[in-house]
Amino acid sequence: MMKLVLATHNKDKITEIKSLLQELPIEILTFSDFDHFPDVIEDRNTLEGNAEKKAREIFNITGMPSMADDTGLFVDALDGEPGVFSSRYAGENVTYEDNRKKLLDEMKDIHVEKRDAVFKTVIVFIKNNEEKYVVEGECKGYIGFEEKGEMGFGYDPIFYLKESNISFAELPLEEKNRISHRGRALQKIKKVLETIIK
Ligand code: IMP
Repeated sequence: MMKLVLATHNKDKITEIKSLLQELPIEILTFSDFDHFPDVIEDRNTLEGNAEKKAREIFNITGMPSMADDTGLFVDALDGEPGVFSSRYAGENVTYEDNRKKLLDEMKDIHVEKRDAVFKTVIVFIKNNEEKYVVEGECKGYIGFEEKGEMGFGYDPIFYLKESNISFAELPLEEKNRISHRGRALQKIKKVLETIIK
């Protein structure tokens, strides 16, 4: 069975990725399966650059097919911020909640019709030294005025879907994976993996 290493320490991402790829005959490994698993510094200024850096470093260390995602939340009214720097929006070593509070605060005077935002994910899968696959997914919505919902992680409680006005944090995992940025990117990489393991 093919082994695939997820190049992340983020347990929330691991849960979403494992759930979507669970039907594939692939053994998914994570940081807890290795003695030495570095926290790769995200210092590139594109999602693809960061995703590739993470996947490649872990591939170089483990010698196994490795996959990483990098995600950003791009808010129209803030000229695309927090964007590629979404994890450090409120500063270094901050919590999910710190980032959400800063974003709500920055947007407190912005009218509901000007609160459009898009989540973007790029996934890079390094199979070996010659083969690299890149896919992306996005999901459009808007930033609410308050937190709603208990599920998900990160910015989920303040990211709302326009059709229903519910937040990502109100969606069970399978529902979020069906429509989210990461879910859409994962559905594409799943097709790639299916052809590889045939
Ligand atoms: P990164 O891909 O780990 O760099 O994530 C960037 C930032 O976006 C982090 O603060 C994450 O918490 C947040 N984030 C990533 N994916 C999601 C998601 O699916 N929902 C909400 N926030 C997310």
